[in-house]
Amino acid sequence: MRSLAVIVPMLVAAIPALAEVAAPRAKALEHMVIQDCGSCHGLTMKGGLGKPLTAAALEGAAPETLATIILDGVPGTAMPPWRPLLTDEEADWIARYLLKDEK
Ligand code: HEC
Repeated sequence: MRSLAVIVPMLVAAIPALAEVAAPRAKALEHMVIQDCGSCHGLTMKGGLGKPLTAAALEGAAPETLATIILDGVPGTAMPPWRPLLTDEEADWIARYLLKDEK
């Protein structure tokens, strides 16, 4: 039987990854970005009806600003509000995900 001295540090190490969005939900959000956001922004986020959402295109944007756009949409454009489907933490996760270089 493994001692607690081995198991407890392993559990503690796993906590930061779970702090905002649980891993299975993160997978679902990743899928949503490709399928739902990709339908307008392009499957590789290089743009289509919507602007490109690559890390390069969004460089310098604050994650908070992007999260607000994701939650509320851009009135008067095709960008819809996602608030009915996402929590604040999830919108923040997507914003940070879009800002990452490799997706
Ligand atoms: C029905 C089409 C459509 C869908 C679906 C869509 N978007 Fe958009 N999105 C747009 C359009 C059009 C714009 C540009 C609005 C403008 O002119 O400012 C936009 C703008 C944005 C912007 C601002 C980009 C910038 O450089 O200012 C972000 C961020 C964004 N969308 C994220 C998302 C995310 C994340 C999803 C999926 C959860 C999503 N969008 C789904 C059409 C869409």
